[in-house]
Amino acid sequence: MPLDVILGSQWGDEGKGRITDLLSAKADIVARFSGGDNAGHSVTVGDQLYKLHLVPSGIVHTHTTCMLGSGMVVNPVHLLDEMDYLESEGVDVSPKRLKISSAAHIITPSHIALDKAREAQRGSAGIGTTMRGIGPAYTDKATRSGIRAGSMTNPEEFADLVEKHTQDAANILEKVFQQQAPNPTEVALAYFDIAKRLQPYLADIGALIADALDQGKIVLAEGAQGTLLDLDHGTYPFVTSSYPTTAGALMGLGVGPKHVRRIIGVTKSFQTRVGSGAFPTECEGKIAQHLRGTGEHPWDEFGTTTGRPRRCGWLDGVLLRYAIRINSITELTLTKLDILSGLDPIQICTAYQFEGTSYPDLPSDPTNLAEFSPEYEAMSGWDSDITNAQDWDDLPAEARAYVQRVQQLANTPIRLISIGPERDQVIDNTNQD
Ligand code: IMP
Repeated sequence: MPLDVILGSQWGDEGKGRITDLLSAKADIVARFSGGDNAGHSVTVGDQLYKLHLVPSGIVHTHTTCMLGSGMVVNPVHLLDEMDYLESEGVDVSPKRLKISSAAHIITPSHIALDKAREAQRGSAGIGTTMRGIGPAYTDKATRSGIRAGSMTNPEEFADLVEKHTQDAANILEKVFQQQAPNPTEVALAYFDIAKRLQPYLADIGALIADALDQGKIVLAEGAQGTLLDLDHGTYPFVTSSYPTTAGALMGLGVGPKHVRRIIGVTKSFQTRVGSGAFPTECEGKIAQHLRGTGEHPWDEFGTTTGRPRRCGWLDGVLLRYAIRINSITELTLTKLDILSGLDPIQICTAYQFEGTSYPDLPSDPTNLAEFSPEYEAMSGWDSDITNAQDWDDLPAEARAYVQRVQQLANTPIRLISIGPERDQVIDNTNQD
């Protein structure tokens, strides 16, 4: 005991990576449980910015063991690139520190080609995927024709599976989509070499985590994406193909709920979204530009994985309450409060309007968000730079009032507040509960 879960309460990009890094200081194991390299997690340590897509953010600490859970889909080419990059930065990614679940599924070049072909076919109704092959890999998993990481224990057999899969996908790509398909023999050869390199990293993650919990170690489940992108509970069909929620954490690591201690919902001080789908509090013009930033800084609102500008808007309290309900979130971390400096007034969506009725909570599942219009409450903004604040009392009264209002709307304590990208730019708000 215990298992702490960190997850996004919005549409991803809430700043989970740096909070995971912070909490990893006291964790023994940090494990990703869903998605793949569609995620982009940034961790800043001094002058060094680490951009991670697959390896858990906890790797930057030297004492942690990091794991890729069974709920993940892993592009082994990108994983090896990331491992090489981390090694070149002096980070130890030996099999002692990094483990891959044998039950995780493998992404191939055909999955990526199919992702692109399906998005192109959807045209203007496209989901706006990250084109990383995520959906097609989970499709193969669900139809029981996927390739699991565990097959890499026998590189020859693994290469045969990859060759057959690439051939099958070629038939679809060529006949249905009239696309050029990856060459089965070339992909099989490349994946044979990959299997030889990744073999030592394979493990039974569920068993390792169970042992660690029995020994009283601290396990951190690191979420990717966010609750509103959950395949079942998000804004379907504009979602990802996995379960970035508390239930997904348990399923994607192979552990039961009795170990769970804290469920930390990471919430940005405003709302962002990449890809398509309804976004009731979306802003245009100057406010969106202010929230998004110019793209000069790594923390500006441009995709870590795709570079796409993110859609930006005011914090949506209705969706926040929904995420708290779906996940049983026990505490919140509020990120990027510093970005609100200079905006006056600051709006918070406190309820939705539909046909003359006000709904503080979602009256249905979030599929039909486009039907609702937000009800806003205006709060006074502040002008000063808050990035050097050391504690709660250093924040301007207006910033404190904003945090307290979010906490009240969420009916959940906000324990940490981030005011900049550095490890120490976090205010511990525990005493204000
Ligand atoms: P996919 O996961 O690539 O299939 O993309 C499906 C939807 O999820 C698209 O709208 C993506 O923009 C979104 N998405 C996937 N991963 C992330 C993420 O890490 N942050 C934010 N949005 C994401």
